[in-house]
Amino acid sequence: MSFCVAIDGPAAAGKGTIAKSVATHFELPHLDSGLLYRAVGARELQGEDPVSAAEALDPSELDAEKLRTAEIAKAASRVAVIPEVRAALVDFQRVFAQRAGGAVIDGRDIGTVIAPDAAVKLFVTASVEARAERRHAELMARGEASDLAQVRDDVAARDRRDRERTLSPLVAAEDALTLDTTDLTIEEAVEAAIAAVAAKR
Ligand code: DC
Repeated sequence: MSFCVAIDGPAAAGKGTIAKSVATHFELPHLDSGLLYRAVGARELQGEDPVSAAEALDPSELDAEKLRTAEIAKAASRVAVIPEVRAALVDFQRVFAQRAGGAVIDGRDIGTVIAPDAAVKLFVTASVEARAERRHAELMARGEASDLAQVRDDVAARDRRDRERTLSPLVAAEDALTLDTTDLTIEEAVEAAIAAVAAKR
């Protein structure tokens, strides 16, 4: 039986780290669905048509390190509102979600659209302030120039665009467990997520 863990939430709430840790703990393959949109966003920044880029995307050739810049994040959020882009990326994600041995996928619409029957759904969130501070620290640690006020504005703008789009908006599934990480360390957040998954495993 497939055992899909769907982890959704806004940017910098900790879902990536949580998803990776849950996948490692339960020995499940992990897909960061944001990378698909980032790859399309990166192509759009290079002048490619985003729909053609999404249709031609080879998900096995994603370079996570190169795709994790603030500029590409913004472009990803922009192309993610295009219905044809989302449609082109659905099949790969659904097949991944239904892997026989189980899977962990994180994103914005995994529990609602990609894997509505997921065995576990987590909605990982945190205040805008806490998320901006984390993202700022992350960018600085990687040697990227970063301004906290700018990061806060970017995070808030991306939230708005992700939440307000009509197609597959960022929203908690009705049966998702919300994990607010504002006042948690990442270790505490991971522990809570693993406990939630273990309860259903
Ligand atoms: O998780 P991330 O920051 O890498 O995602 C980048 C953008 O991609 C995000 O702002 C919205 C979009 N995205 C989406 O629309 N649906 C997903 N399942 C994952 C990401």
